[in-house]
Amino acid sequence: KLTESPAVRRLADWDAARLESLVGDYGSPLYVLDLERVRENYRRLAAAFPDAEIMYAVKANALGDVLETLHEEGAGLECASAGEVKRALAAADSSDGSDASGADVHYTAVNPPARDLDWVVNAWEEYPELTITVGAEDTIDRLEERGYDGRLCLRVNPGIDAGHHEKVKTGAAAKFGVPIERAVDVLVDAAERGFDVVGIHAHVGSGVSSDQLDDHRAFVERMGDLAREVNETLDGDGLEFVDVGGGFGVPYRDDEEPLDLEAVAAATREALGDVDARLTIEPGRYFVADAGVLLTEVNTVKEARDTLAVGVDAGMTTLLRPAMYDASHPIRNLTADLEGGSDSDSSDGSADSSDEGGETTDTGREIVPQTIAGPICESGDVFCTDRQLPASRRTDALAIGNAGAYGYEMANQYNSRPRPASVVVDGDAVRLARRRETFDDVIRPETNAANPTNAAN
Ligand code: LLP
Repeated sequence: KLTESPAVRRLADWDAARLESLVGDYGSPLYVLDLERVRENYRRLAAAFPDAEIMYAVKANALGDVLETLHEEGAGLECASAGEVKRALAAADSSDGSDASGADVHYTAVNPPARDLDWVVNAWEEYPELTITVGAEDTIDRLEERGYDGRLCLRVNPGIDAGHHEKVKTGAAAKFGVPIERAVDVLVDAAERGFDVVGIHAHVGSGVSSDQLDDHRAFVERMGDLAREVNETLDGDGLEFVDVGGGFGVPYRDDEEPLDLEAVAAATREALGDVDARLTIEPGRYFVADAGVLLTEVNTVKEARDTLAVGVDAGMTTLLRPAMYDASHPIRNLTADLEGGSDSDSSDGSADSSDEGGETTDTGREIVPQTIAGPICESGDVFCTDRQLPASRRTDALAIGNAGAYGYEMANQYNSRPRPASVVVDGDAVRLARRRETFDDVIRPETNAANPTNAAN
């Protein structure tokens, strides 16, 4: 077995009493992230890819504690913006103090704003081993204009994609990467212009499942072919690494199976073949998704047509995935589960049939279809529709599972709504990792009579 830790942590496996007490201590809505679970996920994946370099895709969850935890485990940090690079360099510096060179940090520039390039090239002077991955010849020109001739990786567009939703498929989308047919020419040109060409990269999509293994194999074969061709064509040492991106899917529904990591690893190795370069992977979701939950409080319950309409204080501004991708996240009523001193799980159908024929919990709460929605003025602001759960009551604490990846990261201030707080737990320890935003935080950047000093942009 890869590691002792279970491949999936279901929402039912979380300690309901502990989660409910966190809402009491830190308020609602609240993101909770379990760092020990992040380590378990890292170790399981690293065991399946023993000779690969593992970069963590920071965009999944950029909290400093997460970056430090994964860097201490041995992960590099793959960044999508200058802001992420700034966080990554700080985390790499502080987690063990050994990486003062930037060697563990990659910046994947997609249509990079000038401000980002300026910042990263400036940082490169202090961290000369930083790697910049470019997906367009324009980006190479813009780096050259700024005097950059450091480590360069080319992102290619392999024309094959995969993923859990159209909006997260990237392997054939026009905006990502240089068409793979043009890659050799672009790399030869970059090398001639003095860049230190170190790698090729592609990321075909996010949330790739085991049934998309054939697409994955076909894509990695193309990367292997390209790498061999580049190594034959380029003068010098050839490629250091072939980065096949992230995308390792995790189950969101109880009936979904976890990814077969050993099968993915075997397919990757086999498809890459005898390439003389290191394999690099850069998963995000896999490490953090089931390490996080979002806690939210019920504030409104009413009978609607055919469903119980339940209002909670988290919304699409707190967790965007259901609204944006129709993503299904598990939901558990912690208060109902803790009633009567028991910690029975409400989300796994462990309810009893009552005499009236309907199902109830041990303490007599009926199991009813309910639509759980947030406070945002949009009909898409809904976490679930007609889901069977113990009848919610005002002030109940609910937990929304698998919220550790792309949860807080996609939160926003629409409707002038401050973003929630985040706590990390690590064994018995609990720490406020990010305070709740205030109304002032939302308003402060504005320039007006009350705020005349916000000239800097
Ligand atoms: N590398 C690159 C270049 C990427 O663009 C991404 C994700 C990753 C790695 C990591 O992918 P992962 O292992 O996390 O699947 N917001 C969406 C996901 C968007 C992913 C964007 N790129 C969601 O919530 O499903």
